[in-house]
Amino acid sequence: MIDREQVTPEPAPGQPTTDRVKGIFSAIAPSYDRFNRLSSLGIDRLWRRRTVRLAQVHPDSRVLDLAAGTGDLTLAIARQGRPASILSTDFVPEMLEIGKRKAEEHQGRTTIEFEVADAQDLPFGDDEFDIVTVAFGVRNLPDRGANFREVYRVLRTGGRYVILEFSRPTLKPFRALYHFYLRTVIPMLGGWLTGDRSGFDYLNESIRAFPPQLALAAELYKAGFSAVEWHNLTFGIVAVHVAVK
Ligand SMILES: C[S@@+](CC[C@H](N)C(=O)[O-])C[C@H]1O[C@@H](n2cnc3c(N)ncnc32)[C@H](O)[C@@H]1O
Repeated sequence: MIDREQVTPEPAPGQPTTDRVKGIFSAIAPSYDRFNRLSSLGIDRLWRRRTVRLAQVHPDSRVLDLAAGTGDLTLAIARQGRPASILSTDFVPEMLEIGKRKAEEHQGRTTIEFEVADAQDLPFGDDEFDIVTVAFGVRNLPDRGANFREVYRVLRTGGRYVILEFSRPTLKPFRALYHFYLRTVIPMLGGWLTGDRSGFDYLNESIRAFPPQLALAAELYKAGFSAVEWHNLTFGIVAVHVAVK
């Protein structure tokens, strides 16, 4: 008899699977913020600021932040956008706990709540949110289509899905340099900060395997969104896609 476990193939290096992603983020949660600041040389703060502007947050907006991790985008939305409420969600409680602690210092008008939730199967009703955001999360989903359909469902008509994610640099020579940085510096830095570089090999591979700007926009249209645009930041290292229901 063949043992089923023996014939299950290993996932490809950049392929997200639920177990792999949960394992990586529960292990790196305590070092995650430090890794982010160092690996992006602090530029991630500017990317988040731009993302909040593109979300067009209003004082009465109900915002859902998916794959919110340690809450950096959640807090940027609260400080800069000042909406009525933000629900900050992630499926790794260790990441969300750090976000919760950081939010305790927040004194603004926005109500911030935290909930463990899988971005591919949202435990919320139809049309509940005006804005849904996700930063560096979509790349880690085994089934992006399920996420896009779920976000479409929980957004009200006219609501916006705002995705900040690594993308494809537009200038070819810069792209080569950037891929070198991803292949060498990122796993080294990650290994140094956490003592385990394997999760960072995945990170590098997952960035390279992720669809470029136009292909991601096509997937969003396919999920039913009526208008999709994207904005390249830092030569297209990251892009912000805005999809309107
Ligand atoms: C790279 S971190 C990004 C965290 C945060 N948004 C930020 O900008 O720093 C990716 C996060 O996605 C979460 N994640 C991955 N797959 C998820 C899923 N299916 N549902 C909810 N969260 C998920 C991970 O737990 C992790 O916290």
